[in-house]
Amino acid sequence: MKTGIIIYQSKYGATKKYANWLAELTGFDIIETPKATLHNIKQYETILLCGGIYASGIAGLSFLKKHSAQLSGKKIAVFCVGASPYDEKAFHELKMHNLKNDLSNIPLFYGRGAWDESRMTFKDRTLCRLLQKALSKKDPATYEPWMTACMSAAGQVRDWTDRKYLIPLINDLNE
Ligand SMILES: Cc1cc2nc3c(=O)[nH]c(=O)nc-3n(C[C@H](O)[C@H](O)[C@H](O)COP(=O)(O)O)c2cc1C
Repeated sequence: MKTGIIIYQSKYGATKKYANWLAELTGFDIIETPKATLHNIKQYETILLCGGIYASGIAGLSFLKKHSAQLSGKKIAVFCVGASPYDEKAFHELKMHNLKNDLSNIPLFYGRGAWDESRMTFKDRTLCRLLQKALSKKDPATYEPWMTACMSAAGQVRDWTDRKYLIPLINDLNE
């Protein structure tokens, strides 16, 4: 049995950066979601899934959902990457929304990612601009944390990635 593997799904690179840092820190193997198969992953004791957050959903979770029964008994953790600053209430809601049923006992960790509209696909950029337009008509006091981040980063290039966000996950692995 091999020690551990990092599976990641990243559209714009921030999650990939965290996955590579994690590989460096743990010595685990690393693979992108489309290449991950149950046959490969079953050989590992620990599975870390890193996924970007898009419209409140964590990318790559479908792999764990699909194979949760076959992966029972393994140590599994999820590290998700979003644009918003960490906020306890928003993080709890994200967890409730994404880690349901068979996945409800999986620990979730958070790292702040990046924002660059010029690198987004046309569809994503349009979606973000529509959201920014709709939000501009609302009272900022009613924004969710990630909406505040989306508004303050509008039109700017931001990179909040930092190795410090990996510390809680690394501590959990060492327990
Ligand atoms: C279409 C779209 C939707 C997004 N939705 C969220 C969100 O719901 N919550 C959040 O914190 N960040 C959100 N973001 C920001 C991304 O999570 C952030 O840019 C992150 O760095 C993406 O990871 P990646 O660089 O690995 O693709 C969104 C970004 C895009 C393009």
